[in-house]
Amino acid sequence: MAAKPPIHITVTGAAGQIGYALLFRIASGQLLGPDQPVVLRLLEIEPGMKALEGVVMEVDDCAFPLVSDIITTTDLDVAFDGTSWALLVGSVPRKAGMERGDLLTINGGIFGPQGRAIAANAASDIRVVVVGNPCNTNCLIARSNAPEVPTDRWFAMTRLDENRAKGQLAKRAGVPVSSVTNLAIWGNHSATQFPDFANARIDGTPVPEVIDDNGWLQGEFITTVQKRGAAIIDARGLSSAASAANAAIDSVVSIRTATPGDGFTSLAVVSDGEYGVPQGLQFGFPVRAKGSGAWEVVEGLGHDEFAKERIRITTEELVAERSEVIDLLR
Ligand code: NAD
Ligand code: LMR
Repeated sequence: MAAKPPIHITVTGAAGQIGYALLFRIASGQLLGPDQPVVLRLLEIEPGMKALEGVVMEVDDCAFPLVSDIITTTDLDVAFDGTSWALLVGSVPRKAGMERGDLLTINGGIFGPQGRAIAANAASDIRVVVVGNPCNTNCLIARSNAPEVPTDRWFAMTRLDENRAKGQLAKRAGVPVSSVTNLAIWGNHSATQFPDFANARIDGTPVPEVIDDNGWLQGEFITTVQKRGAAIIDARGLSSAASAANAAIDSVVSIRTATPGDGFTSLAVVSDGEYGVPQGLQFGFPVRAKGSGAWEVVEGLGHDEFAKERIRITTEELVAERSEVIDLLR
């Protein structure tokens, strides 16, 4: 059978820590499948180009059969030319003692020009996953600067939080992590996010019926997930990288593949007013993919007063972030 034509994938900040954990997995077929050739379009800023050359040497030295070509560039138009998947990683990570929102003034300015370059150059089936922090609002900035690209093509990454939350619940319940499903991260990828344990399930049973400890669920569980990024920075001296790259791969696979049964996954997508969330925010919701990149926000999940209050707090934070970057929106 003839080989499929290659699909172009852009990774920004490709010489960084996450880039280093991501590129080899993309090149080996874990993003788009084991029979899908890829062209890697790797964007860096000038000071990162030498390190990027080294990373490309290593990708070459893996002799991955699926890699048709690798393009390295500092030029946004080249980086996004004909691309179908843009993974926007490149930006400054926070240091110990910072919140992710503190990065908005440093990183926000990166995403308007990238949004415009995506609109001008990308393939018609472009989909964008924003990883660089604060990822929800950076995604909003990029999307608002690319009004030509449909709003359902833009995603910010809350999957790392979902994976973290599943890990914590599995450990507490003494079950394999695959037993934990339907874990929605509501709102912002920040310390206000709400990992929704009440709608999550363990082997099909609602989590609170398996873990009969509301104090832990409402307290330590939520805080651990909210502060996991900071805990990793504290321990490693650097922010999460391999787990972030893994979550980026999981996100793309979940967007491409129809979600089985009545399951859902966590992605921050454009709000159309679901659950009373203001329209246009890039908000973490439970999302069900329908295959071929189409998706819907899962509606009808119940929330008690505790959950409603948590969702209100994270919504307010995203509204405040949007006000902060109003000058960067189009
Ligand atoms: P890093 O500093 O190791 O790498 C970032 C790379 O981006 C560097 O090589 C840098 O040269 C490059 N870069 C900076 N500005 C750029 C620009 N304008 N265009 C292109 N490249 C640019 O950082 P990292 O650990 O790879 O993290 C990258 C980002 O991802 C950070 O903002 C971090 O906070 C975020 N992050 C998000 C999540 C999440 O769950 N959403 C998880 C982990 C990290
Ligand atoms: C994470 O959640 O690990 C990342 O967003 C990095 C950070 O700053 O916490």
